[in-house]
Amino acid sequence: TPTDVKRICCIGAGYVGGPTMAMIAAKCPDIRVDVCDINQPRIDAWNSDELPVYEPGLDEVVAGARGKNLFFTTAVEESIAAADLIFVSVGTPTKSYGIGAGRAADLCYIESAARMIAENANGPKIIVEKSTIPVRTAEAIRTILAANSENGQFQVLSNPEFLAEGTAVEDLEAPDRILIGGERTPEGDAAVESLVRVYANWVPRERILTTNLWSSELSKLVANAFLAQRISSINAISALCEETGADVDEVARAIGSDSRIGPKFLKASVGFGGSCFQKDILNLVYLCDHFGLPEVAKYWNSVVTMNDWQKERFSTRIVKTLFNTVRGKRIGVLGFAFKKDTNDTRESAAIYVCRDLLLEGANIALYDPKVPVSTIRADLNYVGISDEVIDKQLTICDSAVEATKAAHGVAVLTEWDEFKTLDFDTIYDNMFKPAFVFDGRNILPHDELRAKGFEVYAIGKG
Ligand code: NAD
Ligand code: UGA
Repeated sequence: TPTDVKRICCIGAGYVGGPTMAMIAAKCPDIRVDVCDINQPRIDAWNSDELPVYEPGLDEVVAGARGKNLFFTTAVEESIAAADLIFVSVGTPTKSYGIGAGRAADLCYIESAARMIAENANGPKIIVEKSTIPVRTAEAIRTILAANSENGQFQVLSNPEFLAEGTAVEDLEAPDRILIGGERTPEGDAAVESLVRVYANWVPRERILTTNLWSSELSKLVANAFLAQRISSINAISALCEETGADVDEVARAIGSDSRIGPKFLKASVGFGGSCFQKDILNLVYLCDHFGLPEVAKYWNSVVTMNDWQKERFSTRIVKTLFNTVRGKRIGVLGFAFKKDTNDTRESAAIYVCRDLLLEGANIALYDPKVPVSTIRADLNYVGISDEVIDKQLTICDSAVEATKAAHGVAVLTEWDEFKTLDFDTIYDNMFKPAFVFDGRNILPHDELRAKGFEVYAIGKG
């Protein structure tokens, strides 16, 4: 029979664990939810007024439940012991060492979470994989649990998360679907039904899909691969548009009106970023190779190759347009987050564009409304830019207008709404002439800018 879930523990209080559990707590007042992490500063931040994750609407959801049935804590052991159902929402980054380096998912945090559960479980538990993992990881988790626990009875479910950053709260509130995979046995079915009942507190039943474990695990990787593929496809076409005089936004509209193609995720850009698309595709590619399917691996790998080329193409365009040299020139960079409405910069295209420009000797004046200076510096360090170069060539500004002062060129790398309505007259007056604008997101009013005298380069516009 299904468990009547009364206590939930979530291991991992990151971008997924925090918002997801806050929503469950808000929608299920009878369930107590503990969100646990080994990172004390992160837990302290979840318990403060300054949450570690910026998401529109998240402050309100957390404030409504925190201290009532939502708790953020480092007491992982006790929370595991007390829970009926345990979400595992730890990171699964691309492996940077050893076998599969640069492609396979690093499962060290998943394994440490599984071992913690085995050590502290004192009765039957439902373990839910929330993290994105390679297909068949549930088997490894089951094996670790079985070998390390005397009196635990475990059911492992897969329940991947499909929220997008920047819209996490609305995505969690009204998801397109909830996917739950379980073992096709009476015990597995009962565990699946237990989790279905949690979501059914606010998600219509017909939107809750149940499958076998492997379909659920694989569907998450495939969903991200398909989404990223659309972006790489339209970005590939953007290059052709620039050569032919076609306009990529017009092409996107024309093809997106076909109901079989659909209008979403066809916005050409400087390249997709975020912690997951590249990592999950590389993971899929690795799996295909592992299972002896090199053609399939190559097919999906091209989505990442195209994205790398798009980022590189953008920085090259800036250098070429500025008469083949940016050395000592000031470039105003607007935006550093990987998309608007988030403070997350993981794999942001801006990191790579800024790296290329710094290596060309440019001075960058950068403004982003949400990303802290320390994150920007750490991201640039990570791609090989030394503190010395950063100190010499990078200035962080408090406003977009300030970042464009005395600039030879301005590059928009994140589509923050505030960039659409800047005081372009002042910006023009303050810039060197010709005043070049490189719109990596196609959000600026290009005709208006040209009328003011700017030289505008936009993605996919001939
Ligand atoms: P994150 O790095 O923000 O958070 C993971 C947290 O887990 C960290 O705070 C870390 O300290 C903690 N942790 C690691 N090992 C632990 C342990 N043994 N005990 C307790 N805490 C531990 O990662 P994230 O962005 O939340 O992503 C988590 C997973 O969800 C990944 O697999 C990712 O692919 C997937 N995912 C992410 C998104 C997204 O938008 N970020 C969306 C869907 C799915
Ligand atoms: C993505 C998926 O959309 C989520 O469903 C998934 O849960 C998540 O990955 C994950 O697994 O982590 P996210 O990366 O947060 O969500 O944000 P997206 O809105 O998908 O944007 C990803 C990148 O693609 C951003 O850099 C964005 O600017 C870019 N993008 C998106 C485009 O360049 N063009 C588009 O048309 C759409």
